[in-house]
Amino acid sequence: MKLTIINGPNLNLLGKREPEIYGNQSFEDFLQVLRTKFPNLEIDYFQSNIEGELIDAIQRAGFSSDGIVLNAAAYTHTSIGIGDAVKAVPAPVVEVHISNTFSRETFRHHSFVSPHAKGVIVGFGLKSYELALQAFI
Ligand code: DQA
Repeated sequence: MKLTIINGPNLNLLGKREPEIYGNQSFEDFLQVLRTKFPNLEIDYFQSNIEGELIDAIQRAGFSSDGIVLNAAAYTHTSIGIGDAVKAVPAPVVEVHISNTFSRETFRHHSFVSPHAKGVIVGFGLKSYELALQAFI
């Protein structure tokens, strides 16, 4: 099974950014852990800080992967375009968030992705991604 993990803005700073919220591990290091834990999965990875690049990535993966694990980060709360892209593609999308967005500021409580996602995993740290891969399996 081929799955694509897509990370949005500022997630390239994982490990350095607000570690009390997002932890100490870089996503690249965590990706190695995931690939070791799930040797039978082909896991592609894409990160961008640019909304249109994320939409392009969702479109690409959405017609070529068996599923997408999407953390659109701040664009989750602002981007109709990303929500529309999730709706447009045939591959199921699992929305993930590292932090519990519902225990944070109210502007993080709304998601343009959730209505079109297969499911949502929120608040388990980097483990949210692992749970999403398990959901696909
Ligand atoms: C996040 C939560 C978002 O509100 C925030 O803008 C992020 C990361 C998370 O994974 O917890 O950048 O998506």
